[in-house]
Amino acid sequence: MNKSSNKPFYVTTPIYYVNAKPHIGHAYTTVAADCVARFKRLQGTEVFFSTGTDEHGVKIQKKAEEAGESPAAFVDEIALQFQALWKQLNISYTGFIRTTDPAHKKVVQKVLQNLYGRKIIYKGSYEGLYCVGCEQFKTADDLINGKCPDHDRAPEFVKEDAYLMQMTVLQNELITRIETDELRIAPEQYKTEMLSFLKNETLEDISISRKNVAWGIPLPFDETHTTYVWVDAFLNYLTVLGWEGDTDTLPQEWPADVQFIGKDILRVHATIWPALLMHLGLPTPQMLFTHGHILSGGKKMSKTLGNAIAIDEMFEKFGTDGTRYLLMSAGTFGDDVDLTMERMTEKYNADLANGLGNLVSRVIKLASQIESWRDFELAEQEFVSNRGFGTRTSYNSDFEEYNVSGALAFVWREIDRANKKIDEEKPWELVTSDPERFRKVMGELLERLYVISRLLDPFMPDTANKIRKALEDKKTELLFQRIK
Ligand code: MSP
Repeated sequence: MNKSSNKPFYVTTPIYYVNAKPHIGHAYTTVAADCVARFKRLQGTEVFFSTGTDEHGVKIQKKAEEAGESPAAFVDEIALQFQALWKQLNISYTGFIRTTDPAHKKVVQKVLQNLYGRKIIYKGSYEGLYCVGCEQFKTADDLINGKCPDHDRAPEFVKEDAYLMQMTVLQNELITRIETDELRIAPEQYKTEMLSFLKNETLEDISISRKNVAWGIPLPFDETHTTYVWVDAFLNYLTVLGWEGDTDTLPQEWPADVQFIGKDILRVHATIWPALLMHLGLPTPQMLFTHGHILSGGKKMSKTLGNAIAIDEMFEKFGTDGTRYLLMSAGTFGDDVDLTMERMTEKYNADLANGLGNLVSRVIKLASQIESWRDFELAEQEFVSNRGFGTRTSYNSDFEEYNVSGALAFVWREIDRANKKIDEEKPWELVTSDPERFRKVMGELLERLYVISRLLDPFMPDTANKIRKALEDKKTELLFQRIK
């Protein structure tokens, strides 16, 4: 529908619950999305990058009550903390949505009215086991020893009048879209998991309203109910673009090119969300890229479990770029990763202080021994086009497939190679023993460091700039003119 060639690239993060302070699990998804957004921009693509906060629902209502505050005051405070965190992490989002924004609420009501008018939403009743941590109904199969494994808590039995949205009718269409990759779920293991779920279970019509949860958007056709928080939340992906709820005028960014989500929210994103879009006759997202969890002691790090590493602790120790690096290099993006402060400190010392830091300081120091830059020879003319910015590198293809950790690993292989070159060539000896070779080696090292700084741009933007600044301070303009 909207696939004109100048469609901006649209990447989203989930919107985060504001029931407590942000932790490194939230930073994980957001930093990954930021790296992809920056990579795309560096390629000259226009990007819309959205994030935000999910502010309604029983979980937040309860937390506000416990804090002795009104939900509105409570969510204001925590939404600010998320915004401050993204600033500190240098997140380059272009849209930040809060589900308490009046414009968003209006669209949610308009969409619900539309679906109710067309009998896609109808009145009934619902009963089931509700996990407040997940804000989702659970089946017996989802539980371990009667408890939600992510929140280590038994769900509550809920039985109430509710408005339901048709889901069963869409089951086959959903399977087809996922199977054919019209709605691509990546990495592959999550596509397999979703398809096996959809082929083995009957998708039941879902409750889209709650009767006893005051903190939510009232249904426009029955004010005694509020909107189920997930239905409210999903529409953020459109309202953040300024969509006003009319199905014949869609923002040019839609459909999203990639929506990043944690595996805990894959099922809802691959069922309720496309169902809403399909009922509205709108295109489904091109890709749901699912990542694993950051674990602590084998369990998902979460606010509810209280086993989360506070992000402030990481900033204090590793700074902004160090934190970004440690999150993105924690393991294959897609799989679960286990993180401890101890291991991150070791990695910081090995990869950043020794690996990158050492390379930069050695090359810059050695460069000061170059006597004349004027007739400087480039040692490896082909390096930049073939290895640095070329389309053949695994760096580019990994980024295109959202394998963010893979692209980062490529940069570190380049850093290690450059460090090894210094160890082997010992340029500090060549200065006097073989000045010609010294110049050739330095030419190559300077080029490599420059390219490394470019490759680092999406991951560690400040560090990348500092490296270029240091190179420029060494009067390498002549060199840059040739390799930029
Ligand atoms: N509000 C919903 C999402 C609505 S999107 C329409 C929600 N919020 S959340 O704050 O609980 O989590 C949002 C996302 O944060 C998760 O899907 C996941 O991407 C990320 N993470 C939260 N804890 C995490 C870890 N321990 N590890 C990795 N990511 C985690 O769900």
